Amino acid sequence: MKKVYVTRLIPQKALDILRPECQLEVNPHDRVLEKEELVAAAYGAEGLLCLLTDQIDAELLDQLPRLRLVANCAVGYDNINVQACTQRNIAVSNTPGVLTETTADMAWALLMAAARRVVEADQYVRKGKFKGWAPMLFLGREVNRKVLGVIGMGRIGMAVAKRAVGFNMPVIYYNPTRKSLEEERRLGILYRDLETLLKEADYISIHVPLSEKTRHLIGEQELKRMKKSAYLINTSRGPVINEKALVQALRDDELAGAALDVYEEEPELAPGLAELKNVTLAPHIASATVETRTRMAVMAAENLLTGLKGEKIPNLINPEINR
Ligand code: GLV
Repeated sequence: MKKVYVTRLIPQKALDILRPECQLEVNPHDRVLEKEELVAAAYGAEGLLCLLTDQIDAELLDQLPRLRLVANCAVGYDNINVQACTQRNIAVSNTPGVLTETTADMAWALLMAAARRVVEADQYVRKGKFKGWAPMLFLGREVNRKVLGVIGMGRIGMAVAKRAVGFNMPVIYYNPTRKSLEEERRLGILYRDLETLLKEADYISIHVPLSEKTRHLIGEQELKRMKKSAYLINTSRGPVINEKALVQALRDDELAGAALDVYEEEPELAPGLAELKNVTLAPHIASATVETRTRMAVMAAENLLTGLKGEKIPNLINPEINR
């Protein structure tokens, strides 16, 4: 049987799918493996089920000569050098679709938490500081009827936009390619260039994949363009925002607040970020529900199995490989 290596313990349902079909090995440690450890453990594997915390680069691929399939258990695949995989005829797949709604829910959870200071308020109550209702206690910012700006109108951006209807929020969006007028009408969204969106939106939620084009898409200049009363929410990838510039902008009150699920140098935070009061921080959990993480793992396992069997891989990222 062909060897498959799974780089971290994933939901059992996915392992149950893989086990009868291959020689399955799973990282027994509850941590990311160092490159040398991964090479040693995965050596001889034809399939690798990996996570966004694994750096699948040319150096690693050269040390795993039997590898034919890399199934990322994530929709984003900026952790994988796809070109290097293609050059070596290695199929790469991801898990799109199954985490769309869950991630959109989290973007909204962060938006609401930031606007209404939910985390600060929770800490206040726990510390026994709540001595009774007060007219000026924890005044936040209104969400309903404010302008939502969505950067990146793909599957997740659209799911975030749809949720704005219930809050009576106009939605403006920026995307490298504009949607058709019909689609804009159907979704009730208005196109803006990035500069205009930054100036007009009260809440800005980012949903672009990380690439060389989107790295530091939001930097010092962009943060200065935002309203001083606006909030920035990021559930995409940390490096889309220049985190150091964000810390400075938050210190200088260039914007009202930020809510982040992802960081530039995960799991490290930019110096000063955690000390700021006007940020809400989560540990990259936008897709972290029992249901979604199970769906993602099963999808990654199925991508891998179809590849092992020589069948058409459903979520293949590099169809140009010779199979
Ligand atoms: C999570 O961040 C993912 O890309 O699936």
